[in-house]
Amino acid sequence: MQDILVATEAQKRGLDRRTGERHYRAYVGPAEYYDLLASNQFAALCRSGIREDHAVLDIGCGSLGAGRLLMSYLLPGRYFGIEPERWLIEAGIREELGREFVRMKQPTFDYNAEFNLGVFRRQFDFLLAQSVFTHTPKNDLEKCFAEGRRVLKPEGLFAATFQEGELDYEGDRWIFPQQACYTPGYIDAAAGRAGLLCIFPNWSHPTGQTWFVLHHPDHTPELETIPAT
Ligand SMILES: C[S@@+](CC[C@H](N)C(=O)[O-])C[C@H]1O[C@@H](n2cnc3c(N)ncnc32)[C@H](O)[C@@H]1O
Repeated sequence: MQDILVATEAQKRGLDRRTGERHYRAYVGPAEYYDLLASNQFAALCRSGIREDHAVLDIGCGSLGAGRLLMSYLLPGRYFGIEPERWLIEAGIREELGREFVRMKQPTFDYNAEFNLGVFRRQFDFLLAQSVFTHTPKNDLEKCFAEGRRVLKPEGLFAATFQEGELDYEGDRWIFPQQACYTPGYIDAAAGRAGLLCIFPNWSHPTGQTWFVLHHPDHTPELETIPAT
């Protein structure tokens, strides 16, 4: 009996699924790291100075792993997410957040796959893109950086991850669960082409990706550089 209960919880957590399979936890990364990937993102924004009245846009928000923690912290109406796979958001609400919590926190979602960050017709204190540029071709990454510059408040920060490699991904499409690797030099140059500056704060990441933070050139952010868990 106990074995059956244990197996059922493991299945619910997607632990029997391979990364990329159609389960709300496995689809967005290794299911065994779902909790750590969420807390790592929240820690990254805490180390960047997030306050409860800030507005956050979570790009490729998936099944709201980080969204759940961010919504708890932020005042109502401050969390925004873009996610083309609508079912992921619905599953995250059904399995993790609950409808009452979502009614209370009033998040706003959009489902475009074009990195149109202007759809909410407002600017943000923080942009977040965890494990999104680990799968995008250069043209999408550069469009997202350019859009990011437009919707980032003058003192805002754009925190994101990439998978560091010795060569840059030259493919022209989204790949998953395979990874599109980039060099730090390319990320830095792409930031410059978008009119932004890039910092590599040396925060840890549960699966070994690299954090970077983009900001407007006339604002010098103060980031805690101790490793995020
Ligand atoms: C590896 S998952 C990471 C999800 C989430 N950021 C997290 O940390 O759990 C990448 C996410 O990006 C989404 N995605 C794919 N194409 C996208 C696009 N064009 N714009 C925004 N998100 C996209 C995927 O559907 C998926 O949810």
